[in-house]
Amino acid sequence: MKRKIILDCDPGHDDAIALMLAGYHKNIDLLGVTVVSGNQTLEKTGKNALNIVQYLDLDIPVSLGSSRPIIKEEEVCEVIHGESGLDGVDFPSLKLKYDERHAVNLMIDLLLESKEKVTVVTTGPMTNLALAIRINPEILSHIEEVVLMGGSYTNGNVSPAAEFNIYTDPEAAHIVFNSGVKVTMIGLDVTRKVLVLPKIVDRMSKINNRASRLFVDLMKVFNENQRKVFGFPGGPLHDPVTIAYLIDGNLLTINHMHCTIDISHGPSYGRTNCDVFDYQHEVKNTYVATDIDVEKFWNIIESTMKEGK
Ligand code: RIB
Ligand code: CA
Repeated sequence: MKRKIILDCDPGHDDAIALMLAGYHKNIDLLGVTVVSGNQTLEKTGKNALNIVQYLDLDIPVSLGSSRPIIKEEEVCEVIHGESGLDGVDFPSLKLKYDERHAVNLMIDLLLESKEKVTVVTTGPMTNLALAIRINPEILSHIEEVVLMGGSYTNGNVSPAAEFNIYTDPEAAHIVFNSGVKVTMIGLDVTRKVLVLPKIVDRMSKINNRASRLFVDLMKVFNENQRKVFGFPGGPLHDPVTIAYLIDGNLLTINHMHCTIDISHGPSYGRTNCDVFDYQHEVKNTYVATDIDVEKFWNIIESTMKEGK
C-alpha cells in the first residue's frame, strides 16, 4: 500500500529534492504540500514550491502557511539558499496557483478526509503543524507519525547547540514533540553523512532527464554555498532523507529516546536535547536517527529520478 503523506516544507534546495522524491516515488502518495517561511520568506518559499510542483508536473494542492514563527521573529537562510531561496534554476513562467486554503486548514482537511492515517513530513520550521495541532487536536488520531528533518544530538548548524529548523521555531517543535504523536527525528547527525560530492553530481547528471537536470542545477549552487559557509566538499542533502526513509525503512538506524526542546532562551535555545544514554530515565517520546546507509540513500535518489518524467 502506498504511504500517504503531507509534505510541509520551506524550499530550499534540499526541500526541492525531497519534494521530487515524494512526488515521483511509486510507494508514496503525496496528498499535498504546505509551505512555511524558513530558508526564505513565505512569499519566496511558496513561489519555489509552486515552481517545483509545476516543473515536475505534479497534480497536488500547494498552500501557503505561516509567514513567521509562533513566538520568534522571522529568520531566513540566504547564505545557503540564496536571495530567491532556490538560486540556480530558471523555471518557466509560473501558471500554477495556490490552493485557496491556509496551509493549516489544508493540513487539517487532508488529515480528517483520509480513510487511512497520514504521515506528516516536515522539512522546515514546524510552525504549520504546531498551529494545526492547537487549532484542531482531533487531527492527532489521524496522523500515522511525524517524520521531521531537524534537530541534532551532537552539534547544531546555526548555533553550537541548535539546528536551523528547530532553532527557527523552537516553540512549534515543543508543541509537536509533546503532542503524544509518534515523532521520528532525522537530524544533522545522519544528514551530514550524505554529502552531494562531485562524484554524486556526475552520477546523477548521467540520468539526463528533467528530474536529474533539476538536481544538478540546484546542487551546483547548494554545494558552493555549503562549501563557503561550512567548508564541506559537498552539501549535506538533509531533507530528502525523510522521504528516502519512508521509501525504505531499513535506510536508518533508529533509537527510541527522550527528547526535549530547549525553549529557555539561553545559549542552547532551540536545541533538541536527546537523552542518548537514558541518563534521566524519562518517558521515551522520540525515535531518533543515529546512522544511515549512505549507499542505499544514493541508490534511492538515483532510481527515483530515473522514474522521473
Ligand atoms: O538544518 C537544515 C534544514 O534547514 C534543512 O531543512 C534546510 O532546508 C533548512 O531548512
Ligand atoms: Ca528545509
